[in-house]
Amino acid sequence: MQIFSDPELLQSYITDQRIQGKIIGLVPTMGALHEGHSRLVIESMKSNDITVCSIYVNPTQFNDQQDLVKYPRNLNKDLEMLKELGCQAVFCPTDKVMYPTEPVLKMDFGQLEHLLEGHHRPGHFKGVALVVSKLFHLVQPDKAYFGEKDWQQLIVIKKLVEDLSFPVEIVGVPIAREPDGLALSSRNLRLRQQERAVANQLFIALQLVKAALEEKSSFESAISTGLDHLAQFSLIRVEYLEIVTAFTLEKPSAEMGSEPLSICIAAFLGDIRLIDNLQVFMNNVI
Ligand code: PAJ
Repeated sequence: MQIFSDPELLQSYITDQRIQGKIIGLVPTMGALHEGHSRLVIESMKSNDITVCSIYVNPTQFNDQQDLVKYPRNLNKDLEMLKELGCQAVFCPTDKVMYPTEPVLKMDFGQLEHLLEGHHRPGHFKGVALVVSKLFHLVQPDKAYFGEKDWQQLIVIKKLVEDLSFPVEIVGVPIAREPDGLALSSRNLRLRQQERAVANQLFIALQLVKAALEEKSSFESAISTGLDHLAQFSLIRVEYLEIVTAFTLEKPSAEMGSEPLSICIAAFLGDIRLIDNLQVFMNNVI
């Protein structure tokens, strides 16, 4: 496995691979890798000759400095895991390399920034879009892999690629979960035992909302079902639980019929913020 922190060395490796006609897949991550990340790497390895996994805790996407400081980092373990998976290359740049000076460019995703994660983490998607654009330029992948766990991020990246005509195909990968339903996340490592014991209730609440929708409850009453369930758990503080249209993330109207929907949640357990989502057709899960 090739490991690069210098973008020039990475680029000359990529150029070599391209000359040999190799197809390149990119898996952008912030490290503290778990099985959710491995699924992305495995998916990329299936359809590309070379998979480049980037590991970079991107400061411009953190609106909470404490969250940035406490973000788990474990490069050696991450490299071990990628090597075992058979990943061909890793790019782990430093802040100095990625942001030699304070960036001034701010991409604005309009309405997408004012709802769900965008609303609660101002500036977050500007930072994500900036670093992902840089990675696309440096790696020039044919395909790039993003998890459905961060559903809104996936939608924002697709819009970024469309608006800036990046020649890359974005592939969404389904959410990897613990046996009890908790979506895998690097932040799960920081949950205390009592918090971990109830953390799967977020997924249970999403399923209750979905079941209510399938029983033709109104959107309001479906959301109340989920919130009432979570109210039983004093360790869980819900930030939002919302139903939006799956691809445009708009408020759905009652007349929408069979348009796919996304039920999205963010909640705190102590000071750990977790997110999850469930995609729903009125009768089927996507
Ligand atoms: P990070 O949180 O490390 O996630 C990297 C990728 O793994 C994202 O596409 C995320 O959606 C996916 N992922 C995380 N947990 C998952 C799970 N349980 N199932 C499936 N996929 C999962 O998302 C980021 O980093 C950053 O914002 C990044 C895109 C790298 C830009 O800095």
